[in-house]
Amino acid sequence: MDQGLVASMPSRTERNAFDKAAVPRYYSAKTASILHKYGPGPRIHFHMGLFDPSHPAPTAAVGQHVIRQRIVASQEAMLAHAARVWGVHDTPPATLLDVGCGVGGGSLYWAEEHGASVTALTNTPEHLPLIGEFVGASSAADRVAVVLGDVHEITYARRFDAAVAVESSGYMDRERLFAVMAKALKPGGWFGLEEHFLCGSEWAEFIDDYYKTRLGTLPEYLAAAEAAGFELVVNEDVTDRVAEFWVQSMAWSTMELAAHETAGESPIKRDRLTESALTHGKFFRVWRDREVETRLLQFRLRG
Ligand SMILES: C[S@@+](CC[C@H](N)C(=O)[O-])C[C@H]1O[C@@H](n2cnc3c(N)ncnc32)[C@H](O)[C@@H]1O
Repeated sequence: MDQGLVASMPSRTERNAFDKAAVPRYYSAKTASILHKYGPGPRIHFHMGLFDPSHPAPTAAVGQHVIRQRIVASQEAMLAHAARVWGVHDTPPATLLDVGCGVGGGSLYWAEEHGASVTALTNTPEHLPLIGEFVGASSAADRVAVVLGDVHEITYARRFDAAVAVESSGYMDRERLFAVMAKALKPGGWFGLEEHFLCGSEWAEFIDDYYKTRLGTLPEYLAAAEAAGFELVVNEDVTDRVAEFWVQSMAWSTMELAAHETAGESPIKRDRLTESALTHGKFFRVWRDREVETRLLQFRLRG
């Protein structure tokens, strides 16, 4: 990473002032399109996925439903890979906090596949009943509790064996996030993140405007974690394996746009589909050229 560039980047507060209501508003408005594109559930994810180098091309001949299946499979592959590198198979956490749980797909993954009792935290009120439905329809109905709240304000103390934040920390104040996690985890507990990190300044504003995020740099995260008493134990670069996600996603949007033209049926507005198709093409190049990196990190509380 170019440290000169990092130093000259505008800080997250300069780039995207913190507005508590903006993210829940954004996610409420997106709910129908998330369900439509990544559903039907019960495990629905809203994050990038892992592809093998031998992935099949998203040609029109395969059909939109196949593209969707690939996208969902890649998201589940990301969680399965995270579970391996975070050591969940060897030492499954009995209690886990899912920070920024979306519509609960990840929370259900940790509960169903690894037997964790999960607290699923979201700041989007409209998602609560939805997550409740998915949890009720799952095999882990008694192991996922949904909590509405802003992570910066939660006050759990020595409560969880582990916490995870899958593509949610980009919305948060990292210093406060790590401080809250240091308090919420039991001694020796760990915090796993899957996140995107800026390597240059060129795309920061564009991405943050598109997703309402405040993406940071890896050094910023490492400094915040260190200050809160964490040590870094896993730092895996998965950029090359997620870049393909944008190609498949772009193909899905293009096919959805075609369906819009013929049947006129989609909960996603035509303008947004056009914007998505164009933007995901740009994002593919941003990830391929490593303007942004995606990493799996794991921090463990010292002492
Ligand atoms: C990109 S989605 C990821 C969802 C989920 N982790 C997944 O992978 O499917 C980001 C999530 O973070 C949540 N979020 C953002 N800021 C938050 C905050 N300050 N406190 C709690 N949740 C937050 C949003 O409501 C949303 O559910």
